[in-house]
Amino acid sequence: MKILVTGGAGFIGSHVADRYISEGHRVAVVDNLSSGSLSNVNPKARFYLMDIRSNDLEKVFEIERPDVVNHHAAQISIPASVEDPLLDADINVMGFIRLLNLCVEYRVKKIIFISSGGALCGDADKIPTDEDYEPLMISPYAINKYLSEKYLHFYQVTHGLKYTVLRYANVYGPRQIAKGECGAVPIFMENLIKGRPSRLFAYGDMPKGTIRDYVFVGDVCRANLLALDRGDNRSYNIGSGEGIYIEDLYHLMEEVAGKRLPLERCGERIGDVRRSVLDISRARKELGWEPETDLRRGLEITFQYCLKREAE
Ligand SMILES: NC(=O)c1ccc[n+]([C@@H]2O[C@H](COP(=O)([O-])OP(=O)(O)OC[C@H]3O[C@@H](n4cnc5c(N)ncnc54)[C@H](O)[C@@H]3O)[C@@H](O)[C@H]2O)c1
Repeated sequence: MKILVTGGAGFIGSHVADRYISEGHRVAVVDNLSSGSLSNVNPKARFYLMDIRSNDLEKVFEIERPDVVNHHAAQISIPASVEDPLLDADINVMGFIRLLNLCVEYRVKKIIFISSGGALCGDADKIPTDEDYEPLMISPYAINKYLSEKYLHFYQVTHGLKYTVLRYANVYGPRQIAKGECGAVPIFMENLIKGRPSRLFAYGDMPKGTIRDYVFVGDVCRANLLALDRGDNRSYNIGSGEGIYIEDLYHLMEEVAGKRLPLERCGERIGDVRRSVLDISRARKELGWEPETDLRRGLEITFQYCLKREAE
């Protein structure tokens, strides 16, 4: 199959591109390298340094004629979306609609869209949270992921464009970058390797921090592979189905790193979802997918990768 991966120079998109290539698919990557890196791009992929909002994107469709578009490119920061909702909408909604128009024009057979289970479930009163839960969205990022899912439905009904939505939990693994305050795993990992203390943000009534659902990037890749020919016109939670307190995650990472360093306790962060755990029964049943890498094993793989990168 010919597959166009947007955001294929980023953390998750690059692993997905690698996996498609290893399964014998022909992959092209579009990425503006705003947060991704050229070193992540598989040498067997054709790379286009381009913003998804560029008019030149049509040329890529003309050359590549993809069967499937896998859309990972996005403005990914929740705080950035709160600060600048217009920019988030420009990339994550307007850019996406342009991409959908090209999919229709160039008769793409299917689009796989990456959404966010964590952001869409907000502080759900039902834990674990399934796909039918009516989301309580508390950020422009979540609103725009939700809106994009609605556009997919519109394009499917109106233009017959098939889709699958994968709603990720908190993905972690090699190539993830510690950015600002986002991404507990890469931030803690970097601090542990460099011998620095870490910070724990916690609500007064949840002293061990918030609860999150962590899924290893390799397992996420398998979901992207299965979605090539399963799960048409449906949304799927892709997570572990289990929650962990951030403090417990930190201690597990200390064990993996073989080090103990102080965890400084800070107050809450505005807008931080307290609990997010995804119900993954639908993906199990309909995609035949389930996570295979337990958290300790996934953290060990990630730690070894980070050590190697640090030594380079
Ligand atoms: N990391 C997670 O835990 C998580 C959870 C839920 C959903 N997601 C979604 O997964 C996708 C990938 O996230 P990631 O964690 O790999 O982040 P990432 O920042 O590593 O990857 C995003 C990629 O998109 C590229 N990009 C951004 N804006 C672009 C634009 N306008 N045009 C072209 N390329 C652009 C970036 O350069 C980067 O390579 C995103 O859609 C994100 O919303 C991630």
